[in-house]
Amino acid sequence: MATKAEIDTRLEALHVRMKENSLAGHWQERQRRPDLVPWVWEWATIRECLEESGEVIKLGGVNDAANRRTVQLINPNLTEAKATTRTLQMSVQLVKPGEVAECHRHRATALRFAVESTGTYTTVEGERMVMEPGDLILTPNWKWHDHTNNTDGPAVWLDVLDGHLVTHLDATGRENFSEGTTQPITKPDGYSRKRFGAMRPDTSDIDDVALLPYSYKWVDAKATLESMAEAGEASDYDGVILEYTNPVTGGPTMPTIGCWAQMLRPGETTRAHRHTGSTIYHVVGGAGVTTVGRGSEATELTWGEHDCFFVPSWGWHEHRNTSKTEPAYIFSVTDRPVLQALHLHREERA
Ligand SMILES: [Fe+2]
Repeated sequence: MATKAEIDTRLEALHVRMKENSLAGHWQERQRRPDLVPWVWEWATIRECLEESGEVIKLGGVNDAANRRTVQLINPNLTEAKATTRTLQMSVQLVKPGEVAECHRHRATALRFAVESTGTYTTVEGERMVMEPGDLILTPNWKWHDHTNNTDGPAVWLDVLDGHLVTHLDATGRENFSEGTTQPITKPDGYSRKRFGAMRPDTSDIDDVALLPYSYKWVDAKATLESMAEAGEASDYDGVILEYTNPVTGGPTMPTIGCWAQMLRPGETTRAHRHTGSTIYHVVGGAGVTTVGRGSEATELTWGEHDCFFVPSWGWHEHRNTSKTEPAYIFSVTDRPVLQALHLHREERA
């Protein structure tokens, strides 16, 4: 029988030999990655930093140093990766009057959710999509897009990209438009909403219906939420809630990012549930508290208009509208479509 000292010596030598040959034993310790923490990013602070960046960061330029002027929301446990979640990135972009964010395309899928804008537009694949507050504009992967502010006021919107997921999958790629700062506008305004909306011609000739450029108006989403509230159609766990769907497939907006709009009625408190998938919320209007976790581990996220907050995957959460008279409206993005496609979506209700 070998003694413990002999075994330790042999084990140490084995570890050295394996390391030299890019091998490791399953029994050896590895670095644990930290859990993501629930968080709130207050709009006032984001907006001040964005305003300041508008003074010191010039948009455009040949070397692509600042092809976009965005302030990125970072989870405190992802500071090195500079990421909001391990899959999604939420940032806030500023385009000042007269500025253009140049045309490019990338394999990361992206969306824009307008916060302050009076007629600034994003051009996607030759179609100008006007951005009014609360409007959602999709730029699916590898679609040309640029942003033009021809108005007198600043334009501010949320950018959400699945870039961290794409990076994990080693599928990154990007290209600048070589024929100018912006792409030519080749389609009439409202084209995709008319072409792919409720009444449409045959879509079987479209290459990839899962990656449609599209825009959704907040005025429609809000009116639908209000109608549902009036009809008493609500979930115990999410309040009055709507998923933005791809108009052709009926599935999620895009294969990697799901988008939702919800209304918490005055004084409403939802029941707690948890599910796989990371969710980033943006408060369109109203104020409330979201409790994440349970018992002594619970964290209270207090939010108001335009604040953004994060609920980690598998975190228990419940929302409370703290106003007794006003509804709260929340937009959220999630990587749930990826989890569903991989049969990893799970939900548990309290
Ligand atoms: Fe982009």
